[in-house]
Amino acid sequence: NVKQTLANKRVLVTAGPTRERLDPIRYLSNFSSGKMGYSIADSFKRRGADVILVSGPTNLPAPPGVTRIDVESTAEMFEAVKQHMNADIGIFTAAVSDFTVKDKSEHKIKKQAGSVPAIELTETEDILKYVGHNNEDMYVVGFAAETNNVEEYAQGKLESKKADAIIMNDVSDTSIGMNSDDNEVTIIYKDGGKVPLQKMAKTELAEKIADELMNKVMD
Ligand code: C5P
Repeated sequence: NVKQTLANKRVLVTAGPTRERLDPIRYLSNFSSGKMGYSIADSFKRRGADVILVSGPTNLPAPPGVTRIDVESTAEMFEAVKQHMNADIGIFTAAVSDFTVKDKSEHKIKKQAGSVPAIELTETEDILKYVGHNNEDMYVVGFAAETNNVEEYAQGKLESKKADAIIMNDVSDTSIGMNSDDNEVTIIYKDGGKVPLQKMAKTELAEKIADELMNKVMD
């Protein structure tokens, strides 16, 4: 519906991977490209919203008119998101690292003959969960990328994270999802609604997701 517009609506999108440093030159991360989140930010911008894109390290240019906030670690992403809790819609596409390094080394960890360093990990903040539990006003949308029992996990995430919708995709198929150009998802709403979207380019899919969520939020 071209008449609908998101003018004056604030949309917050997280995208890309996060990096957790072990020492000044090494980090833990994942293969997220940021494509899905950047496309979603672009689609919402073109529907008239004010879009803030909190992005981990990617090779992508910021979509026109979108305000990008660059972050590296999960802790930084969390701080940036907390600055934008007044958003009307939050879409959490970032592949946030589940773990961070407990005592990161100030200096490069040295190779020592016959021994390997033991790296202790701790849990990171669950950003989506924090927002879901601490913001009644924001329409909160999470992603669920799993390789098995996708639907069951997605349902669980709706509840545990107090999200309004979860967009699930099966990443066991490497032609879709993380770091590929295409994706195939199903949107699952808190009220039980389910909208499958067939495999297509992430840019096209972002348009469909934006239209879907826009209709939901404008209702
Ligand atoms: O629990 P899981 O990591 O599978 O949930 C995925 C969803 O939660 C995604 O929307 C992701 O952006 C978000 N998430 C987050 N902070 C984390 C972990 C995941 O915002 N630390």
